[in-house]
Amino acid sequence: MPQSPVILAFESSCDDTGVALIRGNKVLANTVANQAIHAKFGGVVPELASRAHIQNIVPTLDVALEESGIEVSSIDAVAYTRGPGLMGSLHVGTSFAKSWAWSHGKPMIPVNHMQAHILAHFLAPGPYPRFPFLCLTVSGGHTQLVEVSSALNMRVLGETLDDAAGEAFDKVAKLMGLPYPGGPVLDRLAAEGDAFAYPFSKPNVAGLDMSFSGLKTQIWQFLQRKTQEDPAFIAGHKNDIAASVQRIILDVLLDKLEAAVAQTGIKRVAIAGGVSANSGLRARLRTMQESDDWDVFIPPLSYCTDNAAMIAMAGSLMFQERWIGALSDEPQPRWTF
Ligand code: KG4
Ligand code: ZN
Repeated sequence: MPQSPVILAFESSCDDTGVALIRGNKVLANTVANQAIHAKFGGVVPELASRAHIQNIVPTLDVALEESGIEVSSIDAVAYTRGPGLMGSLHVGTSFAKSWAWSHGKPMIPVNHMQAHILAHFLAPGPYPRFPFLCLTVSGGHTQLVEVSSALNMRVLGETLDDAAGEAFDKVAKLMGLPYPGGPVLDRLAAEGDAFAYPFSKPNVAGLDMSFSGLKTQIWQFLQRKTQEDPAFIAGHKNDIAASVQRIILDVLLDKLEAAVAQTGIKRVAIAGGVSANSGLRARLRTMQESDDWDVFIPPLSYCTDNAAMIAMAGSLMFQERWIGALSDEPQPRWTF
């Protein structure tokens, strides 16, 4: 077993085709082909996503290999996203990755996308969280509070009962007539707005689970009422609406994170997934680091949204524990852990 294995990884769970190469935990190449086509439709169109993966995967691999300067013979194993994600998208990535690995005689490692978001924290240069730690994983498809006991031993303590946090950002942005994906657009607008302009209320959900669909309805009804009174309401108050929406979504997430810390006594806290790029969330966590005496881990922006480097990192840790997959492993669109 090499000390610092070279891992080639493929990510194709949603609408981005990612290919990465890492040695140990050092990223040699991390290439992403973004699919601009979905913006026209205000959301990811699964059929178009799988077609675009087919077009993108070979050129993205070529670019990653060239950028890394790695010879195929030096690659120790091939990791790929087995799930969760869109079935058609996963099919392209899993079939391609397994075929490539098989034809080159390399071990193949099926990776859980949500675990990989968390394990992105172990990519260089750190700082790396010590085990155990809590991770708030917030993406477009999932929102989970995870207790991470070791790289390969994780337990979901609570999760959303309906929409994911990223979905809530995207859906509200759509109601406001903003382009897809709405999360980063709302984030930028919120920076110039009053977070307390509109007092949206938090849903009441027991334990460490969360819910965002009622919040979305509440905001939709609010926007409808205001637009009836003044058709230019949204255009005239974009920043305050965005800031108030962002505040309430973050209130839900951070309240549950605080409850998880209280319940487990674990004060090492990380965030992961697309929504961890949110500047409001990052700033509020930094504040809580001081006020609540937490040890906070925030990933670099390039490892927040979907990327193949995180799949490679997870693959590397699994490879070192000899967690090797088989050619018969099928995509798992609803893979839990
Ligand atoms: O992890 P990710 O790239 O893909 C999934 O696995 O789903 O997450 C994408 C989600 C989208 O909903 C997007 O709007 C959201 O992350 N997002 C953000 C920000 N950047 C991406 N949400 C809020 N603020 C951001 N800055
Ligand atoms: Zn993701």
